[in-house]
Amino acid sequence: MSKLRIGIIGTGTIARDKHLPMLTKRDDVEIKILCDLNREKAEKVKEDYGLADVKITVDWHEVTASADVDVIHVLTPNPLHYEMTMEALAAGKHVYCEKPMALKYTECLEMIEAAEKVGKKLTTGTQWRYNPAPMKMKELIQKGYFGDIYYINSQQLRPRRLPAYGVYTSKELNGGGVLLDGGPHSIDLPMWLTDNYDVKCVYGVMFDKMKDYPEGNDLGPWDPDHFDVEDTAIAEITMKNGMVIHMETAWAINMLQPAPGITASIAGTKAGADMVGPGFEDHLRLIGVKNDKFNVETIECDKNINMFEYDINHWIEAIQNNTDPAVLPYQGAVVTRVIEAIYESVETGKVVYFD
Ligand SMILES: NC(=O)c1ccc[n+]([C@@H]2O[C@H](COP(=O)([O-])OP(=O)(O)OC[C@H]3O[C@@H](n4cnc5c(N)ncnc54)[C@H](O)[C@@H]3O)[C@@H](O)[C@H]2O)c1
Repeated sequence: MSKLRIGIIGTGTIARDKHLPMLTKRDDVEIKILCDLNREKAEKVKEDYGLADVKITVDWHEVTASADVDVIHVLTPNPLHYEMTMEALAAGKHVYCEKPMALKYTECLEMIEAAEKVGKKLTTGTQWRYNPAPMKMKELIQKGYFGDIYYINSQQLRPRRLPAYGVYTSKELNGGGVLLDGGPHSIDLPMWLTDNYDVKCVYGVMFDKMKDYPEGNDLGPWDPDHFDVEDTAIAEITMKNGMVIHMETAWAINMLQPAPGITASIAGTKAGADMVGPGFEDHLRLIGVKNDKFNVETIECDKNINMFEYDINHWIEAIQNNTDPAVLPYQGAVVTRVIEAIYESVETGKVVYFD
C-alpha cells in the first residue's frame, strides 16, 4: 500500500502535542508539507521531528492545491476551520479539522455535504472520549450496568490553566473563549458515552470575571487588555429522551473539581460512575448497591489506551480501509450546534429549543 501523504496547516500546540507525534510514529504515512503563518515555527517543527524532505510554506492555499497531498490536517484557530476545510475538500483531500469543527452548525453541514460530494473522509478532534476511563464507562453503559441513565455531569474546571498563548482570548481571532476550547470535549463526552446526540433544548450561562486576575496561571500570564471572551461556561442540555447533561467548562476558576481533566459523572437507575483524583483517566469509581448495601468501589481500566494514538490511528485507518473515523462529522456538527445555542441562550436569557 502506498503511503498516505499529509499536509499540515498550523504548526502550533496541538500539531506538536497530538498530530505530529502520532503521525510520525506510523510508517504508512508521510508528512509532505507544513504550513504556518509563522515560518520559523514551521521550520522548528520540521527540525524537531526530523522531517528533512518536507516543504514549508506560509500560504495555506499551497497546501490545498498541492498534488503531493492526500490528507490535510487543519490545526489553525477556530474561525479558519470552515474556509480551510471547504477548500481542502473541494481539492479532493481528506480532512482532519480540529475542534470545534466550525463556528456555525450550518457551516458544519456544508462541510459534511462537501465531503460526501467528493467521497472523502472528514473528522474532528474530540479525542478525550478515548481515555481508558470513558472507554470502560461506555462499555458498561452498553452492557446495561447503569440501568436508565438520566443525569450526567460533564466537567472541566481548570483552576489556573488558561491558554495564554496564541489567540485564545480574542473573540475576533478565536471566535469565543473557553466554550470553544474545553467546551467541545465536555459537550461531546456525555453524548458519545450514551450514544445520544439528540438534543431537545439548551440553557447556558457564562462568566468573564477572571480576565483582570492573570496571576498564577500555569501557562503564563495573559494580557487583560486583549481579553474579550468568556472564561467560564455552564449549560443544561436536555436530550429528547429526557436525560439531562450539566456541562461546566472553565479556564481560570477558584474551584477544584474531583479530577484535573475532562470528566463525566453519570447517574443511572441501577448504578453510577465517576472519574476522580489523579489517575482519573484510567480508573472508574462505581457507585451502587452490592449485597443489598450501598457500595462504592474503584476499578482499573485498560491503561494501554492513549487517546491521541487511538484517534489518529483510527483516522488514518478510516482512510485506508474506507471505514468510519473515530469521531464522526455529524457528532462534531451537533457539538457546534450546542455551542451556538449556549451563546444564544446567554444573549437572550432564554432556553433554546432544537427542532
Ligand atoms: N483536540 C484537542 O484536544 C485540542 C487541543 C488544543 C487545541 N485544539 C484546537 O486546535 C486548533 C489550534 O490550537 P493550538 O492550541 O494549536 O493553537 P496555536 O496558537 O498553538 O497554533 C495555531 C497555529 O496556527 C497558525 N496559523 C494561524 N493562522 C494561520 C493561517 N492563516 N495559515 C497558516 N497558519 C496559521 C498560527 O501561527 C499557530 O502557529 C484550535 O482550533 C483548537 O481548538 C484542539
